[in-house]
This record gives sequence, structure tokens and C-alpha cells, in this order.
Amino acid sequence: MSDRFSLAGKVALVVGAGAGGLGERIAAAFAEQGAVLAIVDREARADDLDATAGRCGGGASVHFCDVTDEAQVEALLDAVITRHGRVDILVNAAGVMLRKAYDETTLDEFQRVIGVNLTGTWLLNRAAGRRMSAQGSGKIVNLSTVYAERVGPVPESAYYASKAGIANVTRALAAELGPHGVTVNCVAPGVFYPTQMTAALGESPDQRAWFSQRTMLGRLGDPDRDIAGPVILLASDASAYMTGQVVYVDGGWSAW
Ligand SMILES: NC(=O)c1ccc[n+]([C@@H]2O[C@H](COP(=O)([O-])OP(=O)(O)OC[C@H]3O[C@@H](n4cnc5c(N)ncnc54)[C@H](O)[C@@H]3O)[C@@H](O)[C@H]2O)c1
Repeated sequence: MSDRFSLAGKVALVVGAGAGGLGERIAAAFAEQGAVLAIVDREARADDLDATAGRCGGGASVHFCDVTDEAQVEALLDAVITRHGRVDILVNAAGVMLRKAYDETTLDEFQRVIGVNLTGTWLLNRAAGRRMSAQGSGKIVNLSTVYAERVGPVPESAYYASKAGIANVTRALAAELGPHGVTVNCVAPGVFYPTQMTAALGESPDQRAWFSQRTMLGRLGDPDRDIAGPVILLASDASAYMTGQVVYVDGGWSAW
């Protein structure tokens, strides 16, 4: 049974792997499962990506890509296939958050969040989906959030909109890619602390306590312990009959 979770020899592209966040943890766990890694982030994260490559134990190829740029996304997939021969797994953990009231959010800010989170996901899924279809196999895992089908208590309208969109891009592409042997799912994390995205919670013990109490397990998600397992499930043969799903990894937040 444990072999079904093996990623031995699978070429895994992990995007957003360069900031000590969830992408880095997923890449490192994939390496432990035997995957061949291609790790990606913005060029500004070059030093962080080197650190991630170190955590992956050598052999990972390092790539820079702004996921909002169609040409860069296509070039990324070409580079990975040139280097590794194929692409079996795509995990998109690139994302940005904007905590701002709706009437203080500018159009540029709104479009930036949608551009990275939603358009970036769609561009990566399209580029990988085409190549995986040609291979006849592939596993795509997107990162949404516990707010995929609800909103939270703090004002983040652009973020909520982008992450709900990721859930439906996942379902839509699962339908189109299913006949070609490609599964598309997404994980919906609750609040994982600390990452760069949630670092501000360090100054807000009250908010950390509130978020913790909002879960059934009474704690925040631990990036080292709690994210990689469900992603390995969705990236491995163990999930061969799962597609189009939003898998909540939220300590029970969404089940109340
Ligand atoms: N940490 C949480 O509590 C949490 C909860 C729910 C969902 N998520 C989602 O999980 C994903 C990872 O979150 P994290 O906490 O590790 O965040 P993070 O900020 O630590 O990491 C996000 C990464 O995305 C990269 N990125 C941003 N814009 C990019 C672009 N245009 N092109 C390429 N890369 C870009 C950043 O450089 C960074 O390395 C995000 O999509 C986030 O929305 C996180």
C-alpha cells in the first residue's frame, strides 16, 4: 500500500517554492518521496530558491518565472521538459494576499491579486495540462484556501475572489483533462503559521488565538507537519480516482 504514495522518479514542478512557505515544504517532502524536482519562484527569490534546492537534497533544477506572464510560463514548461524529459506533477503554491477594505482597494491592487492567484493558476494549468495530455498522464494540485467557498472575518475581497476562482478552474480543467489521463485537484489550507504570508500574525497573539479556536483541533496549521501529506496523496497514484476535488486541510475549520 505504501508504494501507492511513492513519487519515485516522477518529475515534479513546484511553483512558489522559494520563500520558506508551503511550496518549499511540499518540494522537500516530494524529494523525500523520491521525486525529481523542478522548483520555481520569482527571480527576486533566487537566494530562497537555492535554500529550497538544498532542502531537496541536490538534483533539483531551479527556475525563475512570474506566473502572471504567459510567455514565461510557457518557457518554464519547455525548460523543465528539456531538462527532465517530461512533467508528471504540477503543484502551484505561488500566491499573494491583500488584506484591505473593499473601498480602499484600488483596481490595480485587485487585478494584481487576481493576476497572480487566479490567472497564474490558469496559465500554469493550461501549460502543464497540454503537455501532460500529450503524455497521457499527469497530476495537477492547486492551492486554494479554506475560503474557497466562504469568506473570513477580515477584509480580503480580492483574495477571496481569486481563491474561489481557483476552486472552479480546478473543477473545470479536471473535466477537460480527465479523458486524457490527467487529474486536477486543489488543497484548501486553513491558517498555516508561520510563512511569509502569515508572518504578520506574529504580532497579533489575539488573532492567532481566535484562528486557533476556530478550528476543531484548536491549533493553527504547522507548515512542517500538516501540508505535505495531503499534497502527496493528490500527486501520487494513491489518488488515481480523485479529480476535480477541493480537499480541505484546515483542522476542521470548514466542517463546523
Ligand atoms: N499560509 C497560509 O496560511 C495559507 C492558507 C491558505 C492558503 N494559502 C495559499 O498557499 C500558497 C502558499 O502560501 P504561503 O503561506 O507559503 O505563502 P508565501 O507568501 O510564503 O509563498 C508564496 C510564494 O509565491 C511566490 N509568488 C508570488 N507572486 C509570484 C509570481 N507572480 N510568480 C511566481 N511566484 C510568485 C512568492 O515569491 C512566494 O515564494 C498561496 O497560494 C496561499 O494563498 C496559504
